[in-house]
Amino acid sequence: MKFTPEPRTELIVGHFRVITLKIQVILPSVCGEVTRVVPRSSRPFLRTSFFYAKNLEVSKLDLLEEIKKIEKEVEEKFENVKDLDQLEDLRVEYLGKKGKISQIFSKMGQVADEKKPLVGKETNILKNKAQKMYEEIKAKKEKELKQKRLKAETIDITLPGAKVNVGHKNPFTHIIDEVVELFLGMGFSIEEGPEVENEYYNFAALNIPEDHPARDLQDTLYVDDEYLLRTHTSPVQIRTMEKQDPPIRIIAPGRVYRSDELDASHSPNFHQIEGLVIDKDISFSDLKGVIAEFVHEIYGEERKIRFRPSYFPFTEPSAEVDVSCNVCKGEGCSFCSYTGWVEVLGSGMVHPNVLRMSGLDPDVYSGFAFGMGWDRIAMLKYDIDDIRVLYENDKRFIHQF
Ligand code: DAH
Repeated sequence: MKFTPEPRTELIVGHFRVITLKIQVILPSVCGEVTRVVPRSSRPFLRTSFFYAKNLEVSKLDLLEEIKKIEKEVEEKFENVKDLDQLEDLRVEYLGKKGKISQIFSKMGQVADEKKPLVGKETNILKNKAQKMYEEIKAKKEKELKQKRLKAETIDITLPGAKVNVGHKNPFTHIIDEVVELFLGMGFSIEEGPEVENEYYNFAALNIPEDHPARDLQDTLYVDDEYLLRTHTSPVQIRTMEKQDPPIRIIAPGRVYRSDELDASHSPNFHQIEGLVIDKDISFSDLKGVIAEFVHEIYGEERKIRFRPSYFPFTEPSAEVDVSCNVCKGEGCSFCSYTGWVEVLGSGMVHPNVLRMSGLDPDVYSGFAFGMGWDRIAMLKYDIDDIRVLYENDKRFIHQF
């Protein structure tokens, strides 16, 4: 109960002092008069005063004052909010279902009718204002928080990164990529044949009949009486001539097998690249031109080439091709057995028997073939002195390419 000091009247009536006060009860709209009657006795126990009230009246509520007060509070508190938690508390306090602004709406029934539209309007304005302030401050605080977090999370670029293990191509892959590109450029295409080959394609069709001593030189693993692991890529020549009419220009890279002991220069499985050209009027000079192009492109323009007469059952004439030694530049060293030359491939004009067995008339067609050790190209090109490293897949080796 709140007493307003004025107007205040005092009356002495006999033994009593009568004090009349205008009062305002808690609710600002309740007002009236309260009279306090104080006995004038000198004895304290008789001084107990008593009240009586009159003219008390509850006037219709005027909420405009309250709205203003809340508005001021909202402005102050929202402006000074420290963090999102505090902001949420304020939202509940003012904008929540039971918040101060909702409470104004619920008191609307007590407002004088003529004031209702104005109070309603002001309350809505307050509500919208508070809502807007809330949203703006929330966005601002969230942005601040995000920036703070981003700042804290900045990447320290001075830290060493996690190393990515990059794979490397095996030297075989480098070689075949280069060789294929070169031969494709000369109009060749790529052929493949099976690694488990039959005896006919691996030997007989290549003019190496049964009991021919050349079979001994190329001993291999036999799967059964007929099938074996191919000893060279030359069978692809036959398979190609059987299925394709001349002109033929192919290379056939692939894996081959021989029953050789593993050492620095031998491996029971290794790789070859076969070549075959068949057409009308193909001569030895065509063979020389293609081989010269290959040697200069793969081993270097400065390398010299030598054709040395040789023997292969499936070519006539046959030649082995040497290139000048890169280590001693042809002077002679241990690498080239002091000859100044390194052997790189076997070649020759396709034997008429082979053409005939493959269904081609040697009087109409002629051609040349060549075969080279793919491993040997890699070893010569990258100065590798032990064939085994090509097959061991030791990362320390592979990572050099
Ligand atoms: N096939 C033979 C070998 O493995 C290499 C060879 C020599 C292939 C002369 C040919 C060639 O095409 O004409 O020893």
